[in-house]
Amino acid sequence: QFTPRIFSGIKPSGGLTLGNYLGAIKRWVEMQEEGTQSIYCVVDLHAITVWQDPADLRAATHEVAAGMLASGIDPARSILFNQSQVPEHTQLAWIFNCVARVGWMNRMTQFKEKAGANAEKVSLGLYAYPSLMAADILLYHATHVPVGEDQKQHVELTRDIAAKFNHDYGVEFFPMTEPVIEGPGMRVMNLRDGSKKMSKSGESDMERINMLDDADTISKKFKKARTDPAPLPESPEGLKDRPEAKNLVDIYASLSGGTQESVIAEYAGAGWGQFKPALADLAVDKLAPISDEMRRLMADPAEIDRLLAVGRDRAREIAAPVLERTYEIVGL
Ligand code: ADP
Ligand code: NA
Repeated sequence: QFTPRIFSGIKPSGGLTLGNYLGAIKRWVEMQEEGTQSIYCVVDLHAITVWQDPADLRAATHEVAAGMLASGIDPARSILFNQSQVPEHTQLAWIFNCVARVGWMNRMTQFKEKAGANAEKVSLGLYAYPSLMAADILLYHATHVPVGEDQKQHVELTRDIAAKFNHDYGVEFFPMTEPVIEGPGMRVMNLRDGSKKMSKSGESDMERINMLDDADTISKKFKKARTDPAPLPESPEGLKDRPEAKNLVDIYASLSGGTQESVIAEYAGAGWGQFKPALADLAVDKLAPISDEMRRLMADPAEIDRLLAVGRDRAREIAAPVLERTYEIVGL
């Protein structure tokens, strides 16, 4: 009943990280090559759930779009646009706010992590974020959402919202969207604290590799990455209970298109003094062509805006009729 269609997004809440690339963009490009209709969004309305300096937000919107383009998202084949330019997202999100239950939001682990002990002081938008995310996805009747592990629970909530909407109104209007999570390096961890994911909005710049970091910075950050003192194990089982070691091996595997097995086969018993520089060289090798192209694109923000406007028009061609039908179903 529903044609396969992919939707995914990235928040312009800072510069792109290696986590965004390995966990999201790299996979999106592969899916585009497989020929599935794909819609990719710079989700600026999600970014402002926490305070963003307006000039920084605009710059990050351009950087995230440039990162997708430079990595191989082709605006002629995929739809690439900026969320706030398609008003149907917030219109559908309101309807979903009225479908979703408070108890569902209370179970979102990402909210608990982000709000911490401060849950009373964060924005209402941060709390309702998963409802807007459900609208982003269901506005396009997307059947598949490639996301990192960290977003899996939000895609499950999207299914709950679709199911409750369909049930409450006696329709089969919204699809049951599947999360697509696979491959090594899908959850890239923080280089200073292996229990946290690498994030563009994390506290310290040393904990993440930014897509625009130069070769020296990348080398320095991997060199300073926290690890235990033991050398690399003789087999992948030896990475159990060694989150920092596992993270660096996973990053290597993902960048090289290999697996934990292939990395361990090459580096069994190696010390960090050998492995970290090899990892840094590999990262520089893979990221330099992308960051060079990003810088070229970012030198002409008007051209990025033009491409985003083309994507906006194509997105609205799908979104407007879906919203119109939703209003009809609801009686608005
Ligand atoms: P960030 O945490 O960097 O702000 P976003 O919330 O904008 O990232 O997420 C954009 C996409 O990148 C999502 O698909 C998310 O799952 C993925 N992603 C973000 N950080 C990581 C990470 N450390 N490892 C794997 N995937 C990630
Ligand atoms: Na973030």
